[in-house]
Amino acid sequence: MDYFLINGGNRLRGPVRVSGSKNAVLPIMAASILTDGDTILRGVPDLADIRHMALLLAKLGVSVERHDDGSLHLRVEDERNCHAEYDLVRKMRASVCVMGPLLARRRQAQVAMPGGCAIGDRPIDLHVLGLTTLGADSELVGGDLVLRGKKLRGGEVFLGGPFGSTVLGTANVMMAATLAEGTTMIESAACEPELIDLANYLNACGARITGHGTPRVVVEGVKSLHGCEYTVIPDRIEAGTLMVAAAITNGELRLGNCRIDHLMAVVDRLRAIGVMVERDRDEVVVTSARRLEPITITTQPYPGFPTDLQAQFMALLSLADGNSIVTEKIFPDRFLHVAELNRMGARLRKEGPTVIIEGVKKLVGAPVMASDLRASAALVLAGLIAKGQTKVSRVYHLDRGYERFDEKLNAVGADIRRLSE
Ligand code: EPU
Repeated sequence: MDYFLINGGNRLRGPVRVSGSKNAVLPIMAASILTDGDTILRGVPDLADIRHMALLLAKLGVSVERHDDGSLHLRVEDERNCHAEYDLVRKMRASVCVMGPLLARRRQAQVAMPGGCAIGDRPIDLHVLGLTTLGADSELVGGDLVLRGKKLRGGEVFLGGPFGSTVLGTANVMMAATLAEGTTMIESAACEPELIDLANYLNACGARITGHGTPRVVVEGVKSLHGCEYTVIPDRIEAGTLMVAAAITNGELRLGNCRIDHLMAVVDRLRAIGVMVERDRDEVVVTSARRLEPITITTQPYPGFPTDLQAQFMALLSLADGNSIVTEKIFPDRFLHVAELNRMGARLRKEGPTVIIEGVKKLVGAPVMASDLRASAALVLAGLIAKGQTKVSRVYHLDRGYERFDEKLNAVGADIRRLSE
């Protein structure tokens, strides 16, 4: 198992290119199940989660090949298997987004219930509600959810839950509705840029989706979808993580392939902390001031502050000049990084879905354990500035969602060694 040894204290400086968005690519790959012909995806990051989705799709009869130019070529070759097995689903929750496409195209989907995960409960009741509203029957068989629908029909679907809308639930319903008869209206749809990207891909394949990026998405069903060539959006969470890397090391990073318009809530909080974020032609330049102001952050669905950057900002606010407050409104238990950051000298106190952060003058290197993707990013960020050496174990969590993160950071001045246990 790989781990990182990080010698902290280096200022990061220079250009870094943001990779394509993992959370945009995963549902788009699943959507290829709906199509006849070839899909060619460009800007796909080389990540464990993408390879995992490719494996799942291969089992479902889709050939997936990565070409030398980095593009991913997908083509449905065999439509007989409709079963996403537990062994694959439990390793990557995003596997559930094959459900809508399988149901719409093959009239049946059998998908293992994903179960719990390190960031808390992850129910899929809203996915099921949406798909049954389109006419599917559902039953639970041996831990698998089996959905059947001879003929899906458009309907009105409300996807608001106790924690807001659902990103992959919206993706599932949107994908299924593309081949349903008639018109579907999704109310309280998630508005994340990754869903706009999914809808743009589907429309490029011949779907008729409007309103994507707003809480009301309308899908007019069509008879079939063809393949297309499509470039995915840059990863806003990787970009935000790199912004924190510049801020926490008092450095200056020039981010290429960065959509600042997808990061307005994040940029707003960085500026409130005292970090400068400016556009410079097609780059975004992030420069840190010496003093970090304490702030409050509440995570919210897009366009609010993303839960996927909560842990990284907590590392940064550990060094602010005063007390900050972070409240998690999407996954109220997503705090496994708190105890690990405290091992490095941070002063974080959890009270329900809120963490109070008392700013300290410095963090100190320590052996720490990554628990999930974004928590591991937070620990690497803390390691970049900690005094001495930090050992981050279980970096396979990081490798799921950050493409060659250690190499990217080393290229701008970090000192990270990847070693194997
Ligand atoms: N929820 C329900 N019922 C459902 C589905 C969700 O109550 O049927 C609740 C969840 O428990 C949560 C909230 O709704 O409280 C939002 O969950 P959502 O369904 O939107 O999460 P997701 O679609 O499973 C995606 C991202 C996550 C990201 C969340 C929130 C992908 C592959 N995953 O998950 O990304 O945190 O949206 O923005 O797109 C990550 O990349 O590290 C990651 C975890």
